[in-house]
Amino acid sequence: MKIAQFSRFGFILAAAGSAVGLGNIWKFPYITGEYGGGAFVLVYLLTVAFIGFSIMIAEMFIGYEGKKDCVTSFETLAPQKKSLWKLAGFQGVSGLLIMTFYSVVIGWILNYIVTSFTHLPASVEEAQNIFMGMLKSDPYTQIFYHSVTAIIVTFILTKGIKGGIERLNKFLMPLLMLILGGMFLYALTLDGFSKAWNFMFAFDFSKLNSEAFVTAVGHAFFTLSLGMGAIMTYAASMQKGTNLVKSALWVVFLDTTIALIAGLMLFTFLYQYGATPSKGPGLVFISLPSVFYEMGILGNIFSVLFFIALAFAGLTSAVSLVEPMVQYFIDRFTWSRLKASVLMGSFFYVIGLVALLSNIDGFSSALTFGSKNLFDWLDFVTAAILLPLGGLVMAIFVGFVVPKSQVSALLEPQLGKFFTPWYFSLRYITPIAMFIVILNLIGVF
Ligand code: PHE
Repeated sequence: MKIAQFSRFGFILAAAGSAVGLGNIWKFPYITGEYGGGAFVLVYLLTVAFIGFSIMIAEMFIGYEGKKDCVTSFETLAPQKKSLWKLAGFQGVSGLLIMTFYSVVIGWILNYIVTSFTHLPASVEEAQNIFMGMLKSDPYTQIFYHSVTAIIVTFILTKGIKGGIERLNKFLMPLLMLILGGMFLYALTLDGFSKAWNFMFAFDFSKLNSEAFVTAVGHAFFTLSLGMGAIMTYAASMQKGTNLVKSALWVVFLDTTIALIAGLMLFTFLYQYGATPSKGPGLVFISLPSVFYEMGILGNIFSVLFFIALAFAGLTSAVSLVEPMVQYFIDRFTWSRLKASVLMGSFFYVIGLVALLSNIDGFSSALTFGSKNLFDWLDFVTAAILLPLGGLVMAIFVGFVVPKSQVSALLEPQLGKFFTPWYFSLRYITPIAMFIVILNLIGVF
């Protein structure tokens, strides 16, 4: 089946919409807090610039040249027919796995939009009780909002690339930037800003251990949506003649800028109002609401706007997490888009329910395996293992398997004198770095 195409601008917005997500606004600030700030941010920025950007181009290349779902694109580009490389296309499954807990978190956000209108917690303790109460003993609220999220995402997917995904991004991305930009400008006027700046950009390497390093690299993949076929699937719908390198530059630029803006803004608020940044996933759900309380009525407005921006960021990423497998079933099994979307939606919805229950007292012991419960395992296995692995596979595929002549025919005119360093990075630097990350994860050192 022929895939509908993005407009050029629509592609950049959709790919940026995929990249800019909960990873930027929820995850990046709290892991930066957890791993001590500056040095962590530096490793993340270096990974984005030297590895993430190279892989983004490679991933776009596979999609643009393959023009179909990920499995078919790998199959088409592999020089031998019937090659096992098509298995690499199943990286789309990682997206569905991410979506299981991603949908639950978007649900928390929707809940916070509603409650912020009327109530903000007067202290960090109260905020902590509210969040933990929801997380650990209120399955009903979580299930309700997880269901709302699953329905919205599935509905958009049924509308396809143009009428669903492109439209959603054209509408939500500008609003997201407007809200975050406005709140950032306000943060700039506060004294806490310089403390936040120091926290994020004072590079103290004594705080950098190997776990922080691996997390920073894994996060660079997660935040750029690399290694699970989202960018590849979108690139399959690029218009002929679109410049891949410029598009990748835009996406990386927007994603990084928005993560830094979100981080600076959040830490400014936290320092300004003297809240101790709660470590971990509760940062935006615990510390931040109690800071908003301190701002009075402005705080209610900020809180609602902030969680709306977060929900928008989450939704534009969510559709890209599921689209690769939807496209796969459309292309390979000639399913209708409606059938593919509903079945994929049901898949992540059901596993998401179980993930959600793994946080609930009374269920959690049955759903905890070793050191983590199901929810945390899904996050860890996807962000830390599957995405870097997907990136490694793509780097090797474009660097060694696809004939160099084919790669350079498309990309040399676009990259100019940067073609050689890019190709070198793809063949050697990226695989070695990814290999180290994976060895580290499985505990070799
Ligand atoms: N990049 C998204 C974020 O930062 C998450 C994501 C990962 C989306 C992989 C698509 C693919 O939240």
